[in-house]
Parts: sequence; C-alpha cells; structure tokens
Amino acid sequence: MIKISPSLLSADFMNLERDIKNVQKAGADLLHLDVMDGHFVPNLTFGVPIIKQIERISEIPLDVHLMVTNPGDYFDALADCGVKYISFHQETVFHAHRLIYSLKEKGIKAGIALNPATPVDTLIPVLPDLDFVLLMSVNPGFGGQSFLPLVLSKIRNLRKLSEETNPELEIEIDGGVNAENAVELRNAGADILVAGSFIFGSNNFKERIESLK
Ligand code: DX5
Ligand code: ZN
Repeated sequence: MIKISPSLLSADFMNLERDIKNVQKAGADLLHLDVMDGHFVPNLTFGVPIIKQIERISEIPLDVHLMVTNPGDYFDALADCGVKYISFHQETVFHAHRLIYSLKEKGIKAGIALNPATPVDTLIPVLPDLDFVLLMSVNPGFGGQSFLPLVLSKIRNLRKLSEETNPELEIEIDGGVNAENAVELRNAGADILVAGSFIFGSNNFKERIESLK
C-alpha cells in the first residue's frame, strides 16, 4: 500500500493543530516537515522548536526533509523530538555515509534527497545502507510548483538499482504530486507520496488523500 505524507508547508499555520489532527483523521500515514535554511534553498520555514511541539500532538511518524547546508547539526535535536524519518540532501554533504550511520545509530530511518538534476547513480555506493530515497519532482524551496515528469525515469532506474542491493528501499516522491500523476508514480515504483498544496488546498483532506491512494 502506498503511504501518503502530507507536507505541512501548505497547512494553515494559524491553525496548525487543527490541520494536523484533521489530516491524521483523513488517513495520512506520515507527516512531512520541510526544514529550510535560506541558504541551500531560497526560503525559510521552521526548525526544532516547532517540530518538538508538533511531535506532542502527532499520532503518526514525523518525516523530516532537511533542506539545509549542515544537516548533521540537527540530528541529535531531531532524535530528541522522536522523529522517525530524516532525509538530507546529497548536494549538501561531503560525507553521506557517515551521516547515514549517525541516523541509524539513533534509530531513525535514513534517507537521502536528490534534486531533479542530481542523477540516481550518485547513490550506488550507499544504496545498501539507506532506508529510503527522496526524489524531488520540483526544485526544492516552495510548495505549489508544477510536477517535473523527468522524475519518472529516475524512479524506474532507482528501483532497478535497488532490486539488486536493497529491495526494501522505500522511494519517496516530493513536489507537485496530485491525483493525476499518482498512478504513474506508483507504477514507476514509488512507495511514499508527499503532497502539500494538493491536500491542504482543499477543505476535504479525506477525499484528497483517498484520491491519491
Ligand atoms: C518543496 C518541499 C515540498 C513541498 C511540496 O521544497 O520539499 O515538500 O511542500 O509541496 P507541493 O505538494 O505543493 O508541491
Ligand atoms: Zn519536502
């Protein structure tokens, strides 16, 4: 079964508790939290203090997507918040293998995120060690952008590569996901779909999540 991870970036921040509870009731499997530093991406969002508060009311696993230049600096604090999934960007780090193991030691699922222009082959050496890979289907930084179909062949290639070395690997797709592209994403080999504006842009979260599933 596909997992749906609503991105809180498109939630109503003045009513965050209400939106989190409603999206959980509507069948969300994970909560996708986009941390941006205004350096790796041209936007700022939220950090550890907000995530700590979110964790208090969340009944589903937190899926933190770090779009920051020094992702390792936040692992300890995020582990203290009980975060279950963390992805950091391949483009931001010199020592991906070290960071993967630092997450695994803390009992956190370790993921690497790739920008649309970063090839999946760059993951071959660490593929056996990863729990998941997040493939961006927009350039990171903002919600509500249009889906880039170039991700479809990346999913197929990654699925093929991981069949040999890591069949359990989960593939997460992030950016411009909606009910129209969900089927081809699933057929290409996606396991987790992130959706922000598609879900929070409606007042019927349940209908949106069910249409994705
Ligand atoms: C973009 C973020 C995404 C974003 C997705 O940089 O990583 O998680 O919130 O939003 P939509 O689904 O609106 O493209
Ligand atoms: Zn994201």
